[in-house]
Amino acid sequence: MGKFLIEKSLNIKGDVYIEGAKNSCLPILAGAILTNGKTTINKVPFLSDINIMCSLLEEIGIKIDKDEKNKTLNIDTKNIFNKELSYSLVNKIRASFLLAGALLARFGKVSIQMPGGCSIGVRPIDLHLKGFKALGADIKKEHGIIEIEAKRLVGTEIYLDFPSVGATENIILASVLAKGETIISNCATEPEIVDLIEFLNKIGAKIEGGGTETIKIKGVDTLNSCNHTIIPDRIEAGTFLTLGAATKGELNILNVNCEHLKAVISKLKEINVDIEEKDNSIKVFGKNIFKNIDIKTMPYPGFPTDMQPQFMSLMTLANGTSIINETIFENRFMHAAELGLMGADIKIEGSSAIINGVKKITGSKVKATDLRAGAALIIAGLCAEGQTEISDIYHIERGYYKIEEKLKNIGANIKRINY
Ligand code: EPZ
Repeated sequence: MGKFLIEKSLNIKGDVYIEGAKNSCLPILAGAILTNGKTTINKVPFLSDINIMCSLLEEIGIKIDKDEKNKTLNIDTKNIFNKELSYSLVNKIRASFLLAGALLARFGKVSIQMPGGCSIGVRPIDLHLKGFKALGADIKKEHGIIEIEAKRLVGTEIYLDFPSVGATENIILASVLAKGETIISNCATEPEIVDLIEFLNKIGAKIEGGGTETIKIKGVDTLNSCNHTIIPDRIEAGTFLTLGAATKGELNILNVNCEHLKAVISKLKEINVDIEEKDNSIKVFGKNIFKNIDIKTMPYPGFPTDMQPQFMSLMTLANGTSIINETIFENRFMHAAELGLMGADIKIEGSSAIINGVKKITGSKVKATDLRAGAALIIAGLCAEGQTEISDIYHIERGYYKIEEKLKNIGANIKRINY
């Protein structure tokens, strides 16, 4: 187990290199089940979630050579076979359920543990199962295990009641080898879905409409291999932009796609932070005083829920009252109580948080409750008077590669202690 000890850090300045997107690499690793031959994935973030997903693929005979130094995975599915995935690994990451669609497409049968909820919400999978059923699969749920079977998946029209990222990805993965065309309406439009579609089209899938609310998948008979580079992690980039604003620092964020950060950049400009956008980098110049703003989390391209906790930390020290309305997850304000221990003035009313800006916050012993909440506490700790001790940092290290090293390189006073 580990903790971070953080002191107030006033000279946050320098370059930060952003990793490949965790939430793009995970569905693409599920898509690797559908490849034939040797596939290479570049700009892989070697986070615990990614390593767990690789272990799950190795359980079904997929050979994976990891090259962390060059951020590359070499994958060979020559000896792939189907089996029930082990509970101990599946239970560690919700994204393991993305393997269901790919296994169903390749083998016509999946037996997998129901994914649990987590601190931010129940996280149901009804829309994933609605899609599998529509494609002709039979689904049985017993003792927490889901058995999904289909002699032949047949393309169809599927409407998603909510533009779920995971359901969109799982249905795409299940339909690439189906007979005929599948049309998914009201689907998610996140950049990570566009990246998955680009990967699948490179191995021979026929998918159109990535990034729009309607995706069309023409079933094909065989798929091959490819060489693919993961898009930059917009949430890691947004986290460091927010950190630069909160600490009144000056950061140059490298390996960024500004297009994917429009909502975050626009909100930072609204609070009176200077932002300089270049082709694949962004500079942020924090200001002494920054204004309060209101935020409503929405599906992409709206303001991302995965940036909500980080902005709550920022608004804690803004001038005036800010309101955050969290519309995606029903329990994603756990970090408010932790920030309260540091002197933040935050009231939760249903799906809204009312944040009255305070002059200062003070260091305290706090707990990371999920990966983005943990990032929010790092931002608060860097601005707080005195020492902040963050426990349960395994949450943070699930989503932020070498975060302690990256923070130290930009002048943050942070130390990791193991206990
Ligand atoms: C993905 O989760 C991300 N995870 C999450 O990032 C992110 O917060 C979320 O999308 C929203 O952008 C990965 O990509 C691995 P959803 P996912 O299905 O796919 C409801 C992080 O910080 N819903 O879009 O699980 C659900 O209850 C993580 O990296 C259903 O009702 O998100 C939720 O309210 C946290 N039925 C809403 O949709 C379903 O079948 C959004 O969920 C599926 C979802």
